Amino acid sequence: MIKIELPDEMLQTLVKANNVAVLTGAGISAESGIQTFRDPQGLWAKFNPVELASMDGFMSNPNLVWDWYQYRREIISKAKPNPGHIAIAEMKNLFPKFTLITQNVDRLHQRAGSDNVIELHGNIVENYCVSCNTPFLENIDFENKELPKCKKCGGLIRPNVVWFGEMLPYDALQDANSVAETADFFFSIGTSAEVYPAANLPIIAKNHGAYVVEINPNATSISGYMNQTFNYPAGEVLPLFINDIKKIKGEK
Ligand code: OAD
Ligand code: ZN
Repeated sequence: MIKIELPDEMLQTLVKANNVAVLTGAGISAESGIQTFRDPQGLWAKFNPVELASMDGFMSNPNLVWDWYQYRREIISKAKPNPGHIAIAEMKNLFPKFTLITQNVDRLHQRAGSDNVIELHGNIVENYCVSCNTPFLENIDFENKELPKCKKCGGLIRPNVVWFGEMLPYDALQDANSVAETADFFFSIGTSAEVYPAANLPIIAKNHGAYVVEINPNATSISGYMNQTFNYPAGEVLPLFINDIKKIKGEK
């Protein structure tokens, strides 16, 4: 366990906050054994995002894309939420208003107990038809390499993940922007802040007066805008926040 003291001025601001928001990226799930994208050992160092995470890539080789998503689904289904996810799930009980916005598709936040999660990049659990958009509700077993097809129109089925070059779900982005504009305390956790529009949210929050905190072992392009940065793994820092907030509030 790391031994750091959280600054008192920050904790006092947090305890008084009415509207707290968290933005997470792949780094929050790193301690659950799920690889990030842009770290030196990350997925995009080994795999080509144009082949695996774009509509063009999918249409030219759907089998390759399905192989990759089924491989990731398996890893994700075996992974467990870590102390970082669990600390974030506790936050809804500690503040009058709390919102979690995530770029992650792994649903580990929900499995840790977070609800009403704003999913900016969709999720890896659901699927839909590329031709008529109808959700595909059956389990996909790609062992036999047979591409799943839409029951209604015969179109190809794809995972409900936002790919490169695609729009984010409209409602999710609207909600995330309005949370960033109104939050008085905003955390950016485990994201490289390289992918827009998500990377803008901490900046929007700061420009609208929020106290902004980054938790990431590495500095990012937005670190300089933060009121505080903690260069440690999220699963180690976040439980300290929960402990200290409870202490200040006189809870055990
Ligand atoms: P990245 O892989 O770009 O960044 C992960 C960040 O997590 C890096 O800045 C790491 O330093 C940090 N990190 C690693 N271990 C950590 C830990 N234990 N605690 C806290 N932070 C840690 O992932 P994202 O920022 O999420 O898009 O990437 C954004 C989007 O790009 C993803 O949603 C994905 C990808 O292409 C889609 O899937 C649509
Ligand atoms: Zn269809």
